Amino acid sequence: MSSTENKKQVIDTTNIKLAQADSYNALIKGNAEWVERKLGEDSDFFKKLAKGQQPQVLWIGCSDSRVPANEVTGTKAGEVFVHRNIANVCVHSDMNMLSVLDYAVNVLKVKHVIVAGHYGCGGVAAAMSNKQFGLIDNWLRHIKDVYRLHSYELDRITDETQKLNRLVELNVSEQVYNLCKTSIIQNAWMERHDLEVHGWVINLGTGLVKDLKVTSSSPNNLGYVYELDGVNAVAAH
Ligand code: CO
Repeated sequence: MSSTENKKQVIDTTNIKLAQADSYNALIKGNAEWVERKLGEDSDFFKKLAKGQQPQVLWIGCSDSRVPANEVTGTKAGEVFVHRNIANVCVHSDMNMLSVLDYAVNVLKVKHVIVAGHYGCGGVAAAMSNKQFGLIDNWLRHIKDVYRLHSYELDRITDETQKLNRLVELNVSEQVYNLCKTSIIQNAWMERHDLEVHGWVINLGTGLVKDLKVTSSSPNNLGYVYELDGVNAVAAH
């Protein structure tokens, strides 16, 4: 191999490495500043935090970096149990989501489960298009199903942004419905009356939350094939 060919292969990565180190070190610095700020507000903050958690809320939101549960709701560490995935989809075969839901509902005994979508959601936009994005297409197909269920309404919206934002709302409503269909939520409702499932959409342009008013606190409107009998119902007959 000639010396000119060798030179071609050497890439100067000094600047890349510096930027990489800067963005990483900023996180460590940010953590130290957060600890200092928290201790300034309450010198026992971390002692209390280490003792355990009693969150009242389970947040199921989008993985989008702009919608952090605690910041959006003005809550502190320890106050919100969180599960996030692309486009806040709740699928009844997702072991990860079900485990989080079961733990939150049956162990932590949260009082509110909130499905939080956001306008301009890239996942929902991708699901609305015909493009291929790779592996994620399999995940987004759940949202394509939401589109099909509501195609009569959606096909009549000509403005693409409006159509996307309406699908964002409908996706949240359907995911609330999906959670209510689970045996986890329905069994909890048989035991207690202080568990509500809510649907929200966050407006990134204003920061404000829109409550979609789809809150459910009983299996009454689930539709008869989704409403489950109690686990002891057969024995009782
Ligand atoms: Co999103």
